[in-house]
Amino acid sequence: MNGFKMTTRIRLLLGVGTLLFLVVIPFHGSVSATLPLVLWHGMGDSCCNPLSMGAIKKMIEEAIPGINVQSLMIGKTVVQDTENGFFMDVNEQVDMVCSQLSQDSKLASGYNAMGFSQGGQFLRAVAQRCPSPPMKTLISVGGQHQGVYGLPRCPGESSLICDWIRKKLNSGAYTDLVQKHLVQAQYWHDPLNDDLYKKYSLFLADINQERVVNETYKKNLQMLDRFVMVKFLQDTVVDPVDTEWFGFLKMGQAKETETLQESVLYKEDRLGLAAMEAAGKLHFLASEGDHLQFTEKWFNENILPYLR
Ligand SMILES: *[C@@H]1O[C@H](CO)[C@@H](O)[C@H](O)[C@H]1NC(C)=O
Repeated sequence: MNGFKMTTRIRLLLGVGTLLFLVVIPFHGSVSATLPLVLWHGMGDSCCNPLSMGAIKKMIEEAIPGINVQSLMIGKTVVQDTENGFFMDVNEQVDMVCSQLSQDSKLASGYNAMGFSQGGQFLRAVAQRCPSPPMKTLISVGGQHQGVYGLPRCPGESSLICDWIRKKLNSGAYTDLVQKHLVQAQYWHDPLNDDLYKKYSLFLADINQERVVNETYKKNLQMLDRFVMVKFLQDTVVDPVDTEWFGFLKMGQAKETETLQESVLYKEDRLGLAAMEAAGKLHFLASEGDHLQFTEKWFNENILPYLR
């Protein structure tokens, strides 16, 4: 994996144009009550790229003075962090993050979390598996909570690696080797092979309670004050886009979709999402634009209020 090529992709990930013109809204109010914020970047991105996560972090810090923003690095270097977003066992990544967060005294009395793209479902796994320190608000920006059945484009259009990933996914997403070493396979959800998915998906089928209902997951997720899901209305990276609001394809075919509320997961309330919706904890937001291509105006108006 070539570090330089990665960098090119990262630059494209969030749309350079968007982030260069971020408007900072001055904040007048109590600073001490602001919870720390943990960010988890998306595929092809890294913790610290000045044009994506770095810019988001800076923007939030300027808008909310005194806020502690941490952008997670998975691995010891930025290059490792980027590569791990493609190739590292997601369950291990979640373990690493859990241990990192639990050792951070600044987070002890709670924190908010914002995940971009696959970082959204990874942070949900953190909420479900690691209740301490407590996550308060989870914001999933273009996350794939029911997985994907298709990868029409990679963020940033690196066709070489995407073609390779697609080939692997089509030839054997549910084999043990691919599950453990290809991140996208760990949230690959094939509606035509539901049995295989349920049985062999090591990450997504587990956190979505496909095999058993783990009461701990259910209890922990419901400890969130809010679970905010952002969907991109013209998303060409994520297929189906309904997954960003926890919907998916109906099983046994690959055309018709169903909403979260129409799903068995919700109707049987296997994960506590129905209870959370009844308690007003689920917030569904939509943004115009392609994957992660929000405007600064939209971010300021729709996301910042959750962080204050
Ligand atoms: C349920 O989740 C908890 C927290 O991750 C884990 O320790 C436990 O082993 C899980 N139980 C089952 C039955 O998977």
